[in-house]
Amino acid sequence: MAQLIFEHISKSYHSGEPVIKDFHFETKEQEFIVFVGPSGCGKSTILKMIAGLENITSGRLIIDGREMNNVPTRERNLSMVFQNYALYPHMTVYQNIAFGLKMRKEKKTDIKKKVLKTAEITGLTTLLTRKPKDLSGGQRQRVALARAIVCDNPVFLMDEPLSNLDAKLRTQMRREITLLHKRLATTTIYVTHDQTEAMTMADRIIVLKDGSIQQVGTPHEIYETPANLFVASFIGSPAINVLEGKVESNVITIDGIPTHFSRENLKNTNEALIGIRPEHLIIDKYNPLLIATVEDLETLGADTIIYAKYNRIHLTIKAPGLLSFTKGDRLPLSLAGKHLLLFDKESKKIIL
Ligand SMILES: Nc1ncnc2c1ncn2[C@@H]1O[C@H](COP(=O)(O)OP(=O)(O)O)[C@@H](O)[C@H]1O
Ligand SMILES: [Mg+2]
Repeated sequence: MAQLIFEHISKSYHSGEPVIKDFHFETKEQEFIVFVGPSGCGKSTILKMIAGLENITSGRLIIDGREMNNVPTRERNLSMVFQNYALYPHMTVYQNIAFGLKMRKEKKTDIKKKVLKTAEITGLTTLLTRKPKDLSGGQRQRVALARAIVCDNPVFLMDEPLSNLDAKLRTQMRREITLLHKRLATTTIYVTHDQTEAMTMADRIIVLKDGSIQQVGTPHEIYETPANLFVASFIGSPAINVLEGKVESNVITIDGIPTHFSRENLKNTNEALIGIRPEHLIIDKYNPLLIATVEDLETLGADTIIYAKYNRIHLTIKAPGLLSFTKGDRLPLSLAGKHLLLFDKESKKIIL
């Protein structure tokens, strides 16, 4: 069990521009935290500061009440798995998992007990005598996980550990890591650029952009009430539709079409950007708000993604089921009004 506290942490490499700006956050014990954001936003930098592999330019990192800024990596009691985990090619799976414990000069009988238990948790029991070259990608990834968790440290850091795996394996390992977390009772910081991983794995998500926290929240909070347009657009696939709108006498008008949705407490003639998730545009033959024209389709099986156009506006619609349309078909649409998100046109922040 462990709690991590980040107090106004900033980081610059070689006295350049800060790449992490005022990172301020507290985990709870045993939380699964996911840092998500586009490439280059500073996710790995924060992880390296936690690990003691990069120094902290200003601010404080506290783990379980102890300031860690100047504590060497080996004294921080961390387990780490990175994207390019390198297994020792000449060692067996058993030896790879045992390596860290051996370095710590633990007793042989203890090592054996721990390795066997970890192998069981990670599904490697039958593979212990193999060498890495005789394993599949997913099995190798599991050895990397096993090697990290065998040391039984209270803090677990993972930096894009699944990005080298194929799509199917990624989905499976996602689930395995989530279950593993529940068994291990560690506080986990997991870094990814993949919003699906963030949504499916996190207790809480931290969305980062250009080294600054955009929002902290549960997957539900982030999806339903994104703090700004960046978060709204980054989380969710396909991406949210963003339309020009206006609020007049509390009624929301989208691209000139008055809707029957209203919002209280809004300044009148407030220009706004309106976010509508693809699943909240609904095909509605009987009482449509607008008639769009089908441009293109993507058949996913369980769902169909429809790309359509209304006047000059491009719309993405996600509809359940296998649908067939042809380019040029009329597409009557209405909105799930309570899910409309309004953003200030200038600041791009959500209007609540
Ligand atoms: N060792 C380094 N020296 C200088 N700049 C770096 C170094 N490592 C990362 N950066 C810069 O810091 C920013 C954040 O990088 P990084 O933390 O790797 O982002 P992410 O992991 O989110 O892709 C980027 O602009 C990157 O170019
Ligand atoms: Mg990175």
